[in-house]
Amino acid sequence: MKPTFLIGFMGSGKSTIAKLLADDFVDLDTVIVDKIGMSISEFFEQFGEAKFRELETETLKSLSTTHQIISTGGGIVMSEENRQFLKDADVNVVYLEGDFDKLYARILADKENIRPIAISRTREELFEIYQHRADLYDAVATHKICVTDKTPEEIAKEIQL
Ligand code: S3P
Repeated sequence: MKPTFLIGFMGSGKSTIAKLLADDFVDLDTVIVDKIGMSISEFFEQFGEAKFRELETETLKSLSTTHQIISTGGGIVMSEENRQFLKDADVNVVYLEGDFDKLYARILADKENIRPIAISRTREELFEIYQHRADLYDAVATHKICVTDKTPEEIAKEIQL
């Protein structure tokens, strides 16, 4: 079976679904956090987003394809280099697509995972990013699943079909 990368906006459930799909899933952000020894929001504060994106690309490329399920950060499609990597690799890329307001509510409610991209912006600004990224997710996805009003278990089941 080909490795499967989960992509989609913040709050779309990428890590939760990855966990349901495989015990030994890899979460790209967790690999980065282990590498930098601090939270992503601390890293953004100290070194800025550009440096984070460099690390994200480096980590994406270093991931062993022996892992079957890999969840990514919502901004993975921002870089042309990352998009090309996902297109060229012989992998499934599953886009978890969700309604903006539902994702936004989840992002705001998630006090454990503070997303620097979200907290520094208004709802309108974040919506613009969501719209811009939607085209980029579409461009690299091999599969697209609507996650709105579905449980993680239902979504995982759809991916396994
Ligand atoms: C980001 C999403 C985050 C994390 C970082 C940047 C983004 O991951 O990679 O805070 O640019 O959308 P999640 O999508 O898992 O929240």
